[in-house]
Amino acid sequence: MAMGDKYFQYTQICPVSFGPGAVEEIADKVRQFGASRVALIYDAGVAASGMADRVIKLLEDAGLVVAVFDDVKADPTDASVEAIYDTVAKGAGSELVVGLGGGSVLDSAKMLGLLIKGSGPLRPHMLSAGMNPPLPIAPVVLLPTTSGTGSEVSCVAVVSHHEDHVKDAIFASASYVILDPELTVSAPPHVTAFAGFDALAHSLESFTSASADPMSKLCAFEAMRLVVENLKAAWENGSDLEARTNLAFASNLAGLAFNNTGLHIGHTFGHELGGTFNLPHGMAASYAIPTIIRFTAKHDPERAAEVARAFGVATAEEAAQKALDLMHALGIKKFSENGITVEAAQAIAEDAIAHNVFYHNTVVPVSVEEFKAIIAEIITTYDEG
Ligand SMILES: [Fe+2]
Repeated sequence: MAMGDKYFQYTQICPVSFGPGAVEEIADKVRQFGASRVALIYDAGVAASGMADRVIKLLEDAGLVVAVFDDVKADPTDASVEAIYDTVAKGAGSELVVGLGGGSVLDSAKMLGLLIKGSGPLRPHMLSAGMNPPLPIAPVVLLPTTSGTGSEVSCVAVVSHHEDHVKDAIFASASYVILDPELTVSAPPHVTAFAGFDALAHSLESFTSASADPMSKLCAFEAMRLVVENLKAAWENGSDLEARTNLAFASNLAGLAFNNTGLHIGHTFGHELGGTFNLPHGMAASYAIPTIIRFTAKHDPERAAEVARAFGVATAEEAAQKALDLMHALGIKKFSENGITVEAAQAIAEDAIAHNVFYHNTVVPVSVEEFKAIIAEIITTYDEG
């Protein structure tokens, strides 16, 4: 779309303090919301890294009262978040939530903000029940420790139904983000890879979305460029602060982009695949990257040429191959290694479409039969590439 073809709208969720050392601002930011009782949530990995102790000290040294929940589970459900509220925040009278972690912690923190403000239970307000208006939410300050989900700047929290683990979402946004790349240096290589490919999938799917606009494309292009240029360095040497900083910025830009455009094939397939076969989100969501580049080359060659430019190569085909090589090099398992056949993956196609609002966001419409063919192509491309 050329600038001025039609009007477009873009949303920027909240202020972001970005850069190494930004975590030192945490107590000031909490105080700006007039809160003195804080619920701080994180998971076992963050606890082991020592980062949680640092944040607790920063908050308590400023005279804030901190109630801690240190065992946030991956892929939160409505029940898992309501349990955090019942066991920690409710009794402590928490007024504000601080989420320190990866996507699951950030999403749990946003939903905890809803519960503190009396907007629970969560289940009736999920998007599968209809596009309800945003609910009242307590202030939520997020400190990402991985570079990938973009959850800190998205207007939804991803949540699974506790009964059947179907992935859903609920409107919930952060109030303030402290994006300190130093908090990401302790992420182990496989987490760095999964998160980085998630950010690459977000930016590629946003850039090649039917809803892309000049603002989202600006963010998505730069996010793709930064991930391709920095992911391997951060994976090889987690202490490479320059690569970590570039990835943290990329992840945030990708989040800004997809929050405005939505996603499409990769996350429609990836969400269902991850839920069905118990794969990490970043691995499941990344598989479609090479196929999406080829799909775009076929249906919108000009946009595919821009993707190639972001990947630092001359053609879309070279970009697809570059993505494949990087995914194999950084440990994204083949489907065969995960025990997933083409037939088994195609069998989830209808559910994937039914469970995901992003499916219709492709540059040209994709029928269910075409989606099944794309799934076969994703698998053969990756396992043979
Ligand atoms: Fe994702």
